Amino acid sequence: MPRTLSTALVTGGAGFIGSHTCVELLEHGYEVIVVDDHSNSSPEVFARTEKVAGRCLGAVYRIDLRDRDALNAVFNRHPIDVVVHFAGKKEVAESVRTPVEYYDVNVGGTLTLLSVMQEHGIHRLVFSSSCSIYGEADRIPLTEADPARPTNPYAASKWTCEQILADVCRRRDGWAVMSLRYFNPAGAHPSGLLGEVPRGAPGNVMPYMAQVAAGRLDRLNVFGGDYATSDGTGIRDYIHVMDVAEAHRLALEHLAGRPGMRVFNLGLGSGTSVLELLAAFRRASGRPIPYRIVPRRPGDVGALVADPTAAARAWGWRATRDVAAMCQDAWRFTRLNPAGYADRP
Ligand code: UD1
Repeated sequence: MPRTLSTALVTGGAGFIGSHTCVELLEHGYEVIVVDDHSNSSPEVFARTEKVAGRCLGAVYRIDLRDRDALNAVFNRHPIDVVVHFAGKKEVAESVRTPVEYYDVNVGGTLTLLSVMQEHGIHRLVFSSSCSIYGEADRIPLTEADPARPTNPYAASKWTCEQILADVCRRRDGWAVMSLRYFNPAGAHPSGLLGEVPRGAPGNVMPYMAQVAAGRLDRLNVFGGDYATSDGTGIRDYIHVMDVAEAHRLALEHLAGRPGMRVFNLGLGSGTSVLELLAAFRRASGRPIPYRIVPRRPGDVGALVADPTAAARAWGWRATRDVAAMCQDAWRFTRLNPAGYADRP
């Protein structure tokens, strides 16, 4: 029988963006194989992924990506066509404390994956990158042509991976790679079944706000009220995780038959300050969200906003969900899942 479905391997498929992307791929007919070491995710997410998509994942493996033999066995077992690579560590502050670990997991994991892909003749990859590689911006919005000047080991590890991928595409025939530089993914699946479940107190602003709105944390600390922005607080380009997930599917489709390395920003193209986000979350939740302005967080930058037009021009992707939708969906998920994925759907 001829194969009708494409088989996608999703590394880190139990994570926040990975799980939403698995749903998107399942809904569009892909056979989806997941590898994840669950170092920052729960296997509970898989039942929810399948419930939302109305289809089963092809297989899931608990594997550390640096375990070459285990990864090789997955490629031997499944007729993988394409890879979406999310697996990695992603906390800026943690990366400053443990740089070796960050390079080991993020760069080491990517190298093992590339070598196993090469061995199996699979050359199509979408890579999860980050706007943090731009560092302090000279001007906004940022285009893909702006220089990479990472300021912490997390961002530097992503930039290192991008350079490795570019080199592989330059030197080896047939490789087709797309690196997607996310700005600030936020929100949750509108079903209320999938969302962001940080371990411990959230480091990112929207999950933190959501916990304050739910009464589980006292107040939001707004890091810095003296930036050169409209209200003095940090400006970011928040993008709905559903738009990010959709971008990965479109990226995979665009890669077919187009060898080479490409990088694209994924953002809404407009900036929102911390206080504006707070007001939007108050509206969405109908709850008070106490806050206080505290000193700047070390390593933070004032404003980061994407110019996302390159992706629109090249492969027709455009974010369609606004900050209000991100807040509504994040609030629904927080309200319905007070214990994260430990709550039964
Ligand atoms: C950072 C990285 C991003 C990475 C993400 C994952 C940079 C520039 N960006 O995003 O690439 O994917 O982490 O963790 O390194 N804030 C508060 N109070 C809080 C938390 C945050 O005021 O309790 C403010 C921050 O100062 C910032 C904004 O909210 O202005 C967003 O912060 P956060 O959600 O942590 O994301 P980034 O630091 O932008």
